Amino acid sequence: MTNPAFVFDHWAAAHQQHVEQVLARIVPDEQALPERLHQAMRYAVLGGGKRVRALLTYAGAELAGSSRMAADASAAAVELIHAFSLVHDDMPCMDDDDLRRGKPSCHKQYDDATALLVGDALQSLAFECIAETQAPQALKQVQVLAQATGSRGMCGGQSVDLQSTGKRLSRHELETMHQYKTGALIRAATLLGAYAAPQTPPALIHALEHYSQHMGLAFQVVDDILDATADTQTLGKTAGKDALQEKSTYVSLLGLEEAKVLVNTLYEQTMQLLSGFDCKADPLRGIAKFICERPF
Ligand code: IPE
Ligand code: IPE
Ligand code: MG
Ligand code: MG
Ligand code: MG
Repeated sequence: MTNPAFVFDHWAAAHQQHVEQVLARIVPDEQALPERLHQAMRYAVLGGGKRVRALLTYAGAELAGSSRMAADASAAAVELIHAFSLVHDDMPCMDDDDLRRGKPSCHKQYDDATALLVGDALQSLAFECIAETQAPQALKQVQVLAQATGSRGMCGGQSVDLQSTGKRLSRHELETMHQYKTGALIRAATLLGAYAAPQTPPALIHALEHYSQHMGLAFQVVDDILDATADTQTLGKTAGKDALQEKSTYVSLLGLEEAKVLVNTLYEQTMQLLSGFDCKADPLRGIAKFICERPF
């Protein structure tokens, strides 16, 4: 049963604002040595982004019965890893993109070496902030996040992405690439929230894994669709780059219409699998709708 009084937009705005404050506290001050690196880290992390991964962490926590405060470190950590991935993704040796979140990309605003170090330092900071909670669950959370970030997660997917440029992947290969480069962190974000609760039943973890597998894929398919259909101003990043760079995407493989059908199917299946849950799953329902229908 859902709660008719639950308004996703209000819930999302409150949690987006909250995680922004948590992040502003965690990322070192601009005046702290080394100033330039800390300035660039704050530039890359704060004041932009939809914060979908943090929302997933809070939603996972809510379903598992954890407090918001217990999920703060994890919500911030997934956004730090995500920001690191974006800084490196935009660098000339990767997608070579000058615009991110409506501003010059980190390496344009600063320089390549600084952007490299920003990514490195954000990654370390993510694990530091989970470890610092000293919660009994922290070790498990570090393991889940590390796996999602490394060569069998986001970094692995980014490697496949670069290698498959200009090639035609099979549908299975493309799905694997998307699950690695984007799905893995979406999965970790959701599970980290659930692990913030003192006890998380295996059945709940299983349901969240299923949810995030669908939503991880949907998120990147929608990103592929938006790259082909939205404009640069709306996206806050350069539109039409995938076709230009001959990236392997769902749009290039299936075409626009079939890619949209896939997103709809993933959405319907996700709502179906949440149907057994009560109103504690309302945030997850709202995020699924947002992921599949977002305009940017
Ligand atoms: C963009 O992610 C990169 C992908 C993994 C597709 P988002 O669309 O979540 O970017 P922000 O955080 O809102 O800027
Ligand atoms: C990026 O995919 C996935 C990451 C791990 C950052 P994209 O290269 O499609 O992301 P955008 O479109 O630049 O945000
Ligand atoms: Mg990329
Ligand atoms: Mg890119
Ligand atoms: Mg993209």
